[in-house]
Amino acid sequence: MPLAELYGPEHFGQPAHGRSSPLARAPLSAAEKARALPMPSLEWTPEVERATAPLYARVQKVIPPVEWPFMAPYIKAINELKIQRDAVILAHNYQTPEIFHCVADIVGDSLQLAIEATKVKASTIVQCGVHFMAETSKILNPEKRVLIPDSRAGCSLASSITGADVRLLRERFPGVPVVAYVNTSADVKAEVDICCTSSNAVQVVESLGVDRVIFVPDQYLAKYVASQTTVKIIAWKGACEVHERFTGDELRSYREADPSVQIIAHPECPPDVLAEADFTGSTAHMINWVRNKHPKRVVMITECSMADNVQAELPDVEMVRPCNLCPHMKRITLAKILDSLVYLREDVTVDPAIIAPARRSVERMINLKN
Ligand code: 13P
Ligand code: SF4
Repeated sequence: MPLAELYGPEHFGQPAHGRSSPLARAPLSAAEKARALPMPSLEWTPEVERATAPLYARVQKVIPPVEWPFMAPYIKAINELKIQRDAVILAHNYQTPEIFHCVADIVGDSLQLAIEATKVKASTIVQCGVHFMAETSKILNPEKRVLIPDSRAGCSLASSITGADVRLLRERFPGVPVVAYVNTSADVKAEVDICCTSSNAVQVVESLGVDRVIFVPDQYLAKYVASQTTVKIIAWKGACEVHERFTGDELRSYREADPSVQIIAHPECPPDVLAEADFTGSTAHMINWVRNKHPKRVVMITECSMADNVQAELPDVEMVRPCNLCPHMKRITLAKILDSLVYLREDVTVDPAIIAPARRSVERMINLKN
């Protein structure tokens, strides 16, 4: 069914556009300088080549040999520093192949990363993803050090709504529970009843046992959920700047070029895009779909590094790559991950007053039985 209602900041007398991100990359602080380890050598030597050869074998389909000598010294240094710093790297499926396949300890979609964050034994987590993902890890591990290699790695969905907006929605719809996509700040998570990800959004909405929910902030994920359930959805007008750029016409042109091609899409895409897709699912569900179906040719309608990561794993599947990059995910680079481990930066902090309520919303989701 269509959305019941669609709300945005303009409904509360606020500008609909132009909210600036609070995130800024801080210069190296005195404390970071004081706890720094020596910067490792970043020379390409026969020893580096030997030590990283098994890792290059994983990515050779997607990283040309000429680029490897520039990446391998960072990769070797990062993998050694992780041990020295008692750190694990959690990386989202949109990270580039040299990060995803060569330095990450745990990879996955937002739900998998949140679940894995609750099991981490190491004292430090380096989150290779965007800021809301690092905040989620911190909310679940307030006693651990959580680092993000570049704190400006934001998200157009997370910056579309604030905790104050959620309070205004509650005033407008008293008694209606609020579900927040994890692509939100800790401040928003602290105000809502439960979180969801693209893996479990329908299940979360239906778990509340009510006939109406407020769903923030992604209007397209909200529309997708509304199409899968009889629960009435009141949505917020946020959108992912990467997925909203895809169009149904674009998908039709892939099919016209090759009627046998398989097209799979992320539910942050607009409805005319999802209507053309053979399968819709979270990033992890999309990857599993390709692993299980092993199509001859596939178009993954999502951030384009994910196609590289799947290509590296499944060299015989032909990937058609519509290259929409997430500029926020791409702020995370090998050089910044190395800096993170050398200087223990940038520390992710969450206001202690909101950790407990934000954690309740995330844990309520994690604890839902499948
Ligand atoms: P997933 O939870 O499907 O990994 O999505 C996260 C995201 O940011 C997609 O744009
Ligand atoms: Fe946010 Fe979209 Fe980037 Fe995902 S791809 S982090 S939803 S801007």
